[in-house]
This record gives sequence, C-alpha cells and structure tokens, in this order.
Amino acid sequence: MTSNDNTGGRLRIRIVPLDPSLHDRKSFRCGKDTVDRYLRTTAARATRYYRAATFVLASVNHPTEILGYYTLAPHEYRDAELDLATARTLKVRGLQRIPLLLLGQLGIARANQGRGLAKPLLWNALERAFSTAANSGAVAVITDPADDRATAFYARYGFATLHEAPFHRMLLPMKTIAAAFAQR
Ligand SMILES: CC(C)(COP(=O)(O)OP(=O)(O)OC[C@H]1O[C@@H](n2cnc3c(N)ncnc32)[C@H](O)[C@@H]1OP(=O)(O)O)[C@@H](O)C(=O)NCCC(=O)NCCS
Repeated sequence: MTSNDNTGGRLRIRIVPLDPSLHDRKSFRCGKDTVDRYLRTTAARATRYYRAATFVLASVNHPTEILGYYTLAPHEYRDAELDLATARTLKVRGLQRIPLLLLGQLGIARANQGRGLAKPLLWNALERAFSTAANSGAVAVITDPADDRATAFYARYGFATLHEAPFHRMLLPMKTIAAAFAQR
C-alpha cells in the first residue's frame, strides 16, 4: 500500500496485526495519553487473550516503528439500551442482543500527523469491520472520541453522535460502510 504523503513524498506503508516481538510499543506518542498507554500496557495482552485486536501502521522501510494503530473489539447492546430512532435505522427493533464492533483506539504518531496516514488507517479498520460483520454479524461500528478534534475527525467519515453522556459515543452503520465500499 502506498500513502500519498501530504508533505509531498510517497510512503510505502503496511497495516498488520500487532506483533509484540517486532513492534516498538514504548516509543509511540500520539498526543493522547490514554491511546499511548493502551498500546504500551494493554494491547499485547488483549491480543493474546483475544479480547481485542490491534493493527499497526508502519512504513515498509522501518517495520518496527509504529506510525499509527487501531483496535477493534466486539460489543453488544441490549434492546433497551438503543434509542428508537437508531434501532429503526439499524433495523434491529425488538432484537434482544445487538451486535456491534468497537473501534476502541486509533492514533497516529505525533511526528507523522497531518501526512494523510489517518485516512488509510481508518479505512483499513472499516474494511476489517465490514469483513467481520459479513462473517459473524455487526450492525455498526461505534467509537468514543477523546475530544472535539477526534469528534470532528470521525464526523468527517460519517460517524454520528449516539450519546454525549455519560461519555461521548459515535456510531457508523454497517450499511453505510457497505455502501462506501460498493462505490470504490
Ligand atoms: C485524529 C488523528 C488520528 C488524525 O490524524 P492525522 O494524521 O492528523 O490525520 P490525516 O492527516 O491522515 O487526515 C485525514 C483526513 O482527516 C482530516 N482530519 C484530520 N484531523 C481532523 C480533525 N480534527 N477534524 C476534521 N478533519 C480532520 C484531514 O483533513 C484529512 O482529510 P483529507 O484526506 O480529506 O485531507 C490524530 O490527530 C491523532 O492521532 N490524535 C490523537 C489520538 C486521537 O485523538 N484519536 C482519536 C480517537 S480517541
């Protein structure tokens, strides 16, 4: 995969499953402590026990340096947890257990932000979510933006606010993701 680097160059990148024996998790800094800390302290263990999957963006030339990463994990709502309008949109009214995928973390290393790397990273996450949904079901991808900047970033790709309290959660229906891939 080649990313059109906004700084003018072309960077050959790969997005691969986290390999704790290869990828340098300690040096990653994206500007959000929670996102950095998850990679340092939790990602490897969560991967080992299949609680969540972590995928790492690295350049082909420096495969150990993490330029960005994201995590995906299964999630579930009970019928009553979802408001009626969203349940209607997702066609899950009356469904006792509503399968979702949580985009738990997403970050680009600070020195590499603004180079257009977040787009292929998010696109890869949505592609993987779509494949998971096609194989085992998931009606939407949800994510919890850390701040207004992250909210604006996700909104740009079609995520809409599901609720703002007790924390901010955004949602992108799988049907929307499917339609985006169909247009490619
Ligand atoms: C949010 C984040 C991943 C964006 O990374 P980035 O490298 O700045 O983004 P890119 O340069 O790849 O930009 C991708 C696209 O999103 C847009 N974008 C980036 N940040 C944006 C923002 N805050 N608001 C609106 N759009 C934004 C860019 O304009 C670009 O659009 P384009 O391709 O049409 O030009 C990065 O700032 C980051 O890691 N932040 C810290 C962690 C974080 O907040 N994660 C979010 C979830 S917790």
